[in-house]
Parts: sequence; C-alpha cells; structure tokens
Amino acid sequence: MNVQYDFSDRVVIITGAARGVGRAMVRQFADAGAKVIAADRDEDGLNETVDGLGDVARTVVADISTVDGAQAIVQAAFDRFGRLDVCVNNAAVAPHASLFDETVEVWDTVYAVNCRGTFLMTQAAGKALRDQGEGGRIINFSSGVSNRGSAGAAAYASSRAATESFSRVAAIELAVHDILVTCVSPGLIDTQPKPLPPSMKDGLSKRIPTLPLARAGEPEEVGNLVMWLASDASSYAVGHVYAVDGAAGIGTRAGHEIVDEDVRYDWVTGRTRS
Ligand SMILES: NC(=O)c1ccc[n+]([C@@H]2O[C@H](COP(=O)([O-])OP(=O)(O)OC[C@H]3O[C@@H](n4cnc5c(N)ncnc54)[C@H](O)[C@@H]3O)[C@@H](O)[C@H]2O)c1
Repeated sequence: MNVQYDFSDRVVIITGAARGVGRAMVRQFADAGAKVIAADRDEDGLNETVDGLGDVARTVVADISTVDGAQAIVQAAFDRFGRLDVCVNNAAVAPHASLFDETVEVWDTVYAVNCRGTFLMTQAAGKALRDQGEGGRIINFSSGVSNRGSAGAAAYASSRAATESFSRVAAIELAVHDILVTCVSPGLIDTQPKPLPPSMKDGLSKRIPTLPLARAGEPEEVGNLVMWLASDASSYAVGHVYAVDGAAGIGTRAGHEIVDEDVRYDWVTGRTRS
C-alpha cells in the first residue's frame, strides 16, 4: 500500500528541525507539497536539513523556550509564506542522570525546553491560527518513557508526561476554534548521532532484541504518524496521545514457544496427563 499526502498550499512549522525526527519531517512535508518553516537553535544543522529543498523550506534560528523565540518562529510562517496551517512542536532535550546526580540547572533547562517551549509554541501558534480563523493543527511531542519508571530519566520522563497533560488541556481550549491539538509519543527511534558511545551501544544492543519488533523505529515512521495527524484524514482524532513505538509501550518481544503447563486449566483445554 502506498499512502500519499497532499499538503499543497499548507504552511507547516516544524521545531527541532536541525536533526533526527524533525529533519525527516521537514523533508516528508516538503515532498508532500507543503511550505515548511524549519526551526531550531542549531543553524548549521538547519542548513543541512533544507539543503536542496529550495524555496519551499525556510529556516528560523530560534530558541523555543523563550517568548521571543516562539513568536519569531510563528511570525516567520506569515512573513515568508503568508499563513499557517500546522505547527509540529518536536524540539526537546533528553539528558539523563541519576536522581542523586541530577542538578537543578539541568532539570530547569529540560523543563524550560520540553514544557515551557511546548507551551509557548502552542500559545503563539494557537493565537495565530485563531486570528487567521480557518482552524489548524498543533502536534506536540511526548515519549513512551513518560509512562514507565526508567532509571536516569527523572527530568525527561516527567517533562514529557507534562506535555501530554498540557496537550489535553490545549486540545479542549482550542477545539472551539477548530484548532485540533494532539500529542505524539514515540518509542525508541534511531536518531542518536553515530558512532554510538560504548555505554549507549551496549544498552541498545540489550534493549532492541526485547522490543516487540526487535528494532528501533526510523524517524520517517514518526513523520508518517505526524502527517496523518496533520491531514484531513484525522479530522476526528483530537486531544489524545498517539504512540508510535512498535508496541514497546505494551509489552516485550514474544521470544519463546507458548506452552501452557498449568494443571489448573486442564479442564478448560481438555488436556489429559499421563
Ligand atoms: N529518538 C527517540 O528515541 C525518541 C523517543 C521518544 C520520544 N522522542 C521525542 O521525539 C522528538 C524528536 O526526537 P529526536 O531524537 O529527533 O531529538 P534530537 O535530540 O535528535 O533533536 C532535537 C532537536 O531539537 C533542537 N532543540 C533542542 N532544544 C531546542 C530549543 N530550545 N529551541 C529550538 N530547538 C531546540 C535540537 O537542536 C535538535 O535539533 C523529541 O520531542 C523527543 O522527546 C524521541
């Protein structure tokens, strides 16, 4: 099956566009005819992202955790392309540390980017879409780790849980303006810079075989869900958190033959034992 989206005449903001999932989404939306504002704090990475895309993709170097940064990104959509249809709030940071080693400075920066940044971008894009008066889409990001106790992820996991809660509130408030807010929750996605450092290589080589599909997801597989949520096809899918995690959030890989040797249920299965 081949699914093709047509985002012609739609203007899409993507934050965190200098690498990883954000970079993939810029290219996917541009390929589907959208005009894209690619925003990030990393100018070099942004230039690599839009290399070869021509006038359909414009870059904005800005920090989403500041009022000015968020407003500059949203304003760029109007200055460069004259309108806004979709805002994808993908930018985030995920440093890990043990609870005992976590510092206030790092904790605050994680919350400033992941929570305040998502809030400021949603507020700025929401106001602009409301004033434009044609509805729109805002797609926030979370992580599967928000539902699990994962060692080292205190700041990151809890900050992503906050974006899920925030997105539900935003969805209710903005629905009256026909602005549909959703939240995407990826599992393990292959975006880590290569070569992997030894600790990460070791951790992933143990973790990946336990995933239901026994592989990490590709950035484009997250982009595919985001494109659906940004499209007319998802017009009644509002306010929820949508996982794209290869089932990692619901279980581990079925790696053995299923044998029921529990004698309690012999009467159910009809099994007889010698
Ligand atoms: N990669 C995964 O395994 C994974 C898993 C679960 C959730 N996610 C989520 O998916 C999204 C994308 O993940 P990724 O792996 O591509 O991330 P990444 O770290 O590779 O890229 C994030 C981008 O955001 C930018 N950014 C960070 N802070 C910013 C700020 N203050 N202002 C502007 N830009 C800023 C960075 O410069 C970078 O380009 C994130 O929201 C993340 O929480 C990723």
